Amino acid sequence: MDRIRIRGGRPLSGEIQIGGAKNAALPLMAAGMLTDERLVLSNVAKLADIQTMTALLTQHGIAVDPVGNDGRVLSIGGSISNTEAPYDIVRKMRASVLVLGPLLARVGEARVSLPGGCSIGTRPVDLHLKGLEQLGATFELDGGYIDGRVSGRLRGAKIVFPFVSVGATEQLMMAAALADGQTILANAAREPEIADLAHCLVAMGARITGIGTDQLVIEGVERLHGASHAIIPDRIETGSYACAAAISGGSVFLRDARLEHLGATVRILREAGVDIVEEPGGLMVKRLNGLHGADAMTEPYPGFPTDMQAQFMALMSVAEGASMVTETIFENRFMHVPELNRMGARINVHGASAIVRGVPSLKGAPVMATDLRASLSLILAGLGAKGETIVNRVYHLDRGYEAVERKLAACGADIERIGG
Ligand code: UD1
Repeated sequence: MDRIRIRGGRPLSGEIQIGGAKNAALPLMAAGMLTDERLVLSNVAKLADIQTMTALLTQHGIAVDPVGNDGRVLSIGGSISNTEAPYDIVRKMRASVLVLGPLLARVGEARVSLPGGCSIGTRPVDLHLKGLEQLGATFELDGGYIDGRVSGRLRGAKIVFPFVSVGATEQLMMAAALADGQTILANAAREPEIADLAHCLVAMGARITGIGTDQLVIEGVERLHGASHAIIPDRIETGSYACAAAISGGSVFLRDARLEHLGATVRILREAGVDIVEEPGGLMVKRLNGLHGADAMTEPYPGFPTDMQAQFMALMSVAEGASMVTETIFENRFMHVPELNRMGARINVHGASAIVRGVPSLKGAPVMATDLRASLSLILAGLGAKGETIVNRVYHLDRGYEAVERKLAACGADIERIGG
């Protein structure tokens, strides 16, 4: 299995291209099932999760064809010939469950494996199922699979989410686009990826208002048609490389990054002493003088994202003073803490909060990546550490970061991938 070797202590300098958002691309690919016509998506990042979604759509009978030679444009389309999403694919990637709504809306039946637990928590899909039931679907559990049916078409309803869920909002928006009548999604998630999906659905002929707010109103239409859509840049990749610039004490231009998608991340990084300035074509990020401890609590957008928590904690482990990092979205998302502590960080976890007492510098060590964002946290720690760090089990990394070692090496980092 591949490992990443980093020799820390070199300030980054140069430019990093921010790719298309993984968490926008996955639901957008599922939206390709809502029509027989072609949905052409551009700015698709080259990631293992995109390949997994491609495999899933393909086995449903949907073609996913590259357009041009750069592998960043996909044309999706075809008729659904198989309504089962198998365990082997769903267990690899939870976002697979997003095919449920489109399958029910298009062909009235779906058999989708329950995703099960994952390393960052139990992550149930009850909100997805309850919402779809309100639109008229019925479900049975059979052999670890959810068997879903609709007689006739889905019917619009008012759905009030008891708490904010990104995936459930996307699932219900896709299903409601082809339901009879009006659906209101209240307490909907407001992440930029939700707005991106909504804009694409509108381009496909859906009628959605309230985009960008916590109340989406969807007037169902008979059918959707093909469209072309460019995926938004990845705000988590942006925030992660901003932390890389800061922990290395360097300055990096993040091409195509958008300030308006960063929410609380910008405020908190600035508070910690990171300079982030909007320039034509992207964001310039550099460390001002020293880094200072700053507190962060994860919340739905526009709050501080849970997907930035591990990276921010690596940064705070070398800041002056203490920081409190509180995780409110997932119950088990501190697996990077013992690994950071092996590198000399001083972090104590108390329930959902971690107290980070900054140290002058970390020391390189062999460490283990436990999930996608934790992998990047350890790479950041390695960039800021003295000596050599080996990050093991980097397959998580390739799910969501394209060519991370090449992007960082191009800015002067001493980093390489070791195969085998
Ligand atoms: C998405 C992102 C993920 C990010 C997360 C929170 C994608 C592909 N993934 O995941 O990277 O970390 O948003 O920003 O976009 N929950 C339930 N029942 C449900 C659904 C969710 O209890 O039916 C809980 C979850 O366990 C979690 C919370 O709600 O505690 C938020 O999860 P949700 O927003 O749904 O995350 P995902 O869509 O899975």
